[in-house]
Amino acid sequence: MGGGYVGLVSSACFAELGHSVDLIEIDEAKVEAINSGKPPIYEKGLKELLSKHAGRNLFATTGYDVVCDADLSFICVGTPSGPDGSADLSMVEAASKSLGESLQEHEAYHVVVVKSTVPPGTTQDLVVPTILRHSGCDEAALGFAMNPEFLREGLAVQDFMQPDRIVIGSVEAKAGNLVELAYRGLKAPVVRVGLSAAEMTKYASNALLATKISFSNEIGNICKKIGIDVYEVMRGVGMDHRISPHFLNAGAGFGGSCFPKDVMAMIRLGEGLGEDPLLLKSVIEVNERQPLRMVDLLERRIGSLLGKEVAVLGLAFKNDTDDVRDSRAVSVIKELKRKGARIRAYDPLATSNMRRIVPDIEYCESAAEALKNADACLVMTEWPEFGELDEEFDLMRSRVVIEGRKILFCEDAEGICW
Ligand SMILES: NC(=O)c1ccc[n+]([C@@H]2O[C@H](COP(=O)([O-])OP(=O)(O)OC[C@H]3O[C@@H](n4cnc5c(N)ncnc54)[C@H](O)[C@@H]3O)[C@@H](O)[C@H]2O)c1
Repeated sequence: MGGGYVGLVSSACFAELGHSVDLIEIDEAKVEAINSGKPPIYEKGLKELLSKHAGRNLFATTGYDVVCDADLSFICVGTPSGPDGSADLSMVEAASKSLGESLQEHEAYHVVVVKSTVPPGTTQDLVVPTILRHSGCDEAALGFAMNPEFLREGLAVQDFMQPDRIVIGSVEAKAGNLVELAYRGLKAPVVRVGLSAAEMTKYASNALLATKISFSNEIGNICKKIGIDVYEVMRGVGMDHRISPHFLNAGAGFGGSCFPKDVMAMIRLGEGLGEDPLLLKSVIEVNERQPLRMVDLLERRIGSLLGKEVAVLGLAFKNDTDDVRDSRAVSVIKELKRKGARIRAYDPLATSNMRRIVPDIEYCESAAEALKNADACLVMTEWPEFGELDEEFDLMRSRVVIEGRKILFCEDAEGICW
């Protein structure tokens, strides 16, 4: 259930592993696109998998009746932030209800697997009772498991097929065993735990990765004041095997559909339990301030932004994706607009998604077009093609280039914290 980044990639990869997959998605346009072999999102390798499996052993549908004949069903719907930052579980509940109603007719043992990122206790306290109530089944006919997803957008297919680990939470071993079987063929350690521990593993992983980024940004901000390149520092730091070199890249902060919302959900969960999650609150605060430092830096370089033409290169929250959810480019563009700048933006993939969030800026077809006659340029996404830009910066009215990701090779670019 759910044909977004997680549901669609999982479906295509399970099909590649040899399973028969029915993907249930409520958005008819997505269903049509998937069945005709066209992924509605960009993910490296996904188009190839869809051309191979769509219409053969992978079918998308809007109807839940297909679950009756399935051995396993995976809930992969969204769990966005609610108004107070806690996880909004309404889509998980709705999917569980539809699933329960459709399971009334099922005969063989069926395992419901929660793959969406949900707070500890959700599978046991929300999914299990909702499904049992709407299916009318007794517990022996159904199994329940929680199988968090760790894929990174942009590398989702690769991450699914070559995971660092597969975490499976279940109460009964029989349910977890069936989930483990679904992954047969992949080489990865399997971590078998309880339902809530599986749910918590996902939040703790994302919280730690987000913490590493905010930590690196804080060190980077201090380094910048003393004239130290934080990337030189982190090269040495990351070689310590207890730390690892990953997620130590200082820059404009983390975005995307997971880190900001999952850290917020963890904060609200802790608070609800009477804890004060100080570290996680700081992780968010550093991250909120970080992109605005780009605008401060820009003002220090060119003065008032009123009427200035600013090229923004990169709109996706990271490279190799068209996803702009919580992208740092959004905060920067809003701040630039507030200060009266005129914005010309370019992204190789994410323009149409960004246009829906920010319709009233100029979108360009190339970096060169965005840079032409610009007073300044901000680089927000680490697209490799930006690393090849050089003479294009000569098209600018003045060559003021500030990067929020370390990707440029031109010498006069200034880093946000290097
Ligand atoms: N995107 C990631 O990188 C990533 C990585 C790991 C985990 N997760 C988690 O996985 C979950 C899904 O994330 P996503 O990025 O794939 O979300 P998404 O918004 O891209 O996709 C969710 C899909 O579910 C569909 N949907 C909603 N209600 C439905 C229902 N009742 N029945 C069938 N389909 C329904 C929506 O139309 C949408 O296409 C979230 O909990 C997220 O936190 C995401």
